[in-house]
Amino acid sequence: MLTLDEAFRKFKSRLELNDKEQKNASARQQEVRNYLDTKFSIANSFLTGSYARYTKTKPLKDIDIFFVLKDSERHYRSKAPSAVINAFYDALVEKYGEEAVRKQSRSVNVDFGVHVDAEDNTDYRILSVDVVPAFPKGDDYEIPDTDTGQWIKTNPKIHAERATAAHQAFSYEWKGLVRMVKYWNNNPRHGSDKPIKPSFLIEVMALECLYGGWQGQFDRELQSLFSTLADRIFDTWPDPAGLGPAISNGMDQARKRRAGDLLMQASRDATAAINLARQGRNGEALKAWRALFGPKFPLT
Ligand SMILES: Nc1ncnc2c1ncn2[C@@H]1O[C@H](COP(=O)(O)OP(=O)(O)OP(=O)(O)O)[C@@H](O)[C@H]1O
Ligand SMILES: [Mg+2]
Repeated sequence: MLTLDEAFRKFKSRLELNDKEQKNASARQQEVRNYLDTKFSIANSFLTGSYARYTKTKPLKDIDIFFVLKDSERHYRSKAPSAVINAFYDALVEKYGEEAVRKQSRSVNVDFGVHVDAEDNTDYRILSVDVVPAFPKGDDYEIPDTDTGQWIKTNPKIHAERATAAHQAFSYEWKGLVRMVKYWNNNPRHGSDKPIKPSFLIEVMALECLYGGWQGQFDRELQSLFSTLADRIFDTWPDPAGLGPAISNGMDQARKRRAGDLLMQASRDATAAINLARQGRNGEALKAWRALFGPKFPLT
C-alpha cells in the first residue's frame, strides 16, 4: 500500500507543471498575441502570475498573460480602466465569441472550452487565459482595475523573487505546499464560492505563515499551515511588492469569517487524518486526505 509520504509526493507531482502543459500555454499565448497584434500595438507579451512562478494549481486555468502596450496606445492610460478592458473584450469576442469571453476587474478571460474529467485531468491543456493590458511604468507596470476605477501598479518580478526566496528557505517544498492549499481552496465541496479570494492571498500569506523550516512531513506541515492561515485570515495582507492595493481587500468580514471557519475545519480534518495514520489505519488516512483536497490526492 501507498505510504502517506508517497501519497503526498505523488500529489505534489500531479500539481506540477509539465512540458506538455507548458507547450500548450505557450501556443495559446502565441495564438492570442498573433490575433491581438492585428487590433492593438503591442510591445511585448509574457506569461506571468502564479503560472510563471510555479504556484498555480490544477486544472490550469486563468493563466495570466501581460500584453504590454506601445506608446501609441497611451491614450487608454488617461481614460477610465474600463475603456481598455472594453476594447480588449470587444476584440477578443470577435475571435472567440461571446460565450468564451468574460470581463474581469483587471483582465479579460478567454475560455478555450477544454473538458475536465472526474480526476481533474485535461489532457495537458490549459482551460483559459487572463488577458491583462499593461503599460510600463519605470521598472513596474500599470494595469487597469475596474473595481476601483484606478490604474494599479504591479511588479511580477518582485513577486517571483519573493516566492523563490521562500521556496529556497523552506527546503524547496514551499511552492508544492502553496499549490496544495490552492487545490484545497478549489475543492468543489466548498460550493461555487472559494473560501479564499483571490487565491493569490494564499501565496501571500504563505510567505509569512510557513516558517521555522521544513520539518520533513507533509501531513504535519499542512495541518499547521491550515491552522496558521485560519488564525491570520483577519489580518491585512499588503501587496508583497508594496505597489498595489492590499491583497486581502478582496474579502469582506463575512467572507473572512467563512474562510477562517473552513481553514479551521481543514486543520481539524488534517489532525484526524494524522491520527488515523498513527493508528496504522493507512487506507482510511489516505481517504481522509483525498476528501480534504480532492481527486488529485492519490489512494493508490
Ligand atoms: N493587489 C495587487 N497588487 C499588485 N499586484 C497584484 C495584486 N494582485 C495580484 N497582483 C499580481 O498579479 C498577478 C495575477 O493576479 P492573480 O489574481 O491572477 O493571482 P495569481 O498569483 O496568478 O493566482 P491564481 O493562481 O489564482 O491565478 C499576481 O500573481 C501578482 O503578481
Ligand atoms: Mg492568475
